[in-house]
Amino acid sequence: MAGFSYKYKSKALCLVLAFTLGSCLFSTLAKLQRFEHPSNADGSLSFLVIGDWGRRGAYNQSQVAFQMGRIGEELDINFIISTGDNFYENGLTGIDDTAFEESFTNVYTAKSLQKQWYSVLGNHDYRGDVEAQLSPVLRKIDGRWLCLRSFVLNAEIAEFFFVDTTPFVEKYFSNPEDHTYDWNGISPQKDYVADLLKDVELALRESTAKWKIVIGHHGIRSIGYHGDTQELVKKLLPILEANNVDFYMNGHDHCLEHISSTVSPIQFLTSGGGSRAWRGDFGGLNQDGVKFYYDGQGFMSVQLTQSDAKIMFYDVFGNVLHKLSVAKQAYSAM
Ligand SMILES: *[C@@H]1O[C@H](CO)[C@@H](O)[C@H](O)[C@H]1NC(C)=O
Repeated sequence: MAGFSYKYKSKALCLVLAFTLGSCLFSTLAKLQRFEHPSNADGSLSFLVIGDWGRRGAYNQSQVAFQMGRIGEELDINFIISTGDNFYENGLTGIDDTAFEESFTNVYTAKSLQKQWYSVLGNHDYRGDVEAQLSPVLRKIDGRWLCLRSFVLNAEIAEFFFVDTTPFVEKYFSNPEDHTYDWNGISPQKDYVADLLKDVELALRESTAKWKIVIGHHGIRSIGYHGDTQELVKKLLPILEANNVDFYMNGHDHCLEHISSTVSPIQFLTSGGGSRAWRGDFGGLNQDGVKFYYDGQGFMSVQLTQSDAKIMFYDVFGNVLHKLSVAKQAYSAM
């Protein structure tokens, strides 16, 4: 993938590379793996956001994919972000699960979608073999694929903070119903979440990017079926508010939403319409700041420049359903 590079965090590799890469030693201090993706020559950046999609093309997944291809071409996108629930119903069974090709490679075939994908895991992905989705073997099968639990993507004009939100949600541990979750590498849950919050806070605090965008599977604010994720409202949101985050982008609720924070500049954007939609489902009771809600399928595009962000939501026919523009306030350093 052109312009796509990343720094390994493994200490062993760092020792080897430390002789040639001065930055390697520095990067071992921060715990989140970091990736880089250059902005366009004029400093702008554009990308699509899709969530809750992998159903072998069914439930309009292929129709949404087709429109993503069209809009991707029009906007000349740099990459695609997946907000998780990549493979239904239960993630991947292993690195040889053909759902990877059937739900990803063979569905997102448009020329404009042959870009790097950056993905987080959803709760459905945790019901399968998590390590398989994170495995470099998948990247060999389809070079567009990159999924990690939590990581930072530096795209010059914007920095993206991908957060593994499933381990925050208590009910998956205390009341998993008839599902089994792959918690390898997560337990003890308390420590995992506490460490992750610390890492995210540090990465946000150190960021000098114009735009700060946080991605997770679960919504912080949502009026869809699941509603607000209380664990994230309590633990993650204060960190985002304290660090001038512009956007929080998620899936989980199978709908498209735009909700404004009533106490900070953060905009909450749900793009969870990649395949099966939940028509007529309104779960969230907190209606504060709701600007847009669509309970059908679709996706979102984001265009960033130094001075503004343009965000659009599309339905399965590629019609624009909702737009928002955000002007970047100039911060005056004291
Ligand atoms: C596909 O999208 C159309 C238009 O929104 C909708 O009427 C139809 O029910 C969708 N089909 C499925 C299987 O979700």
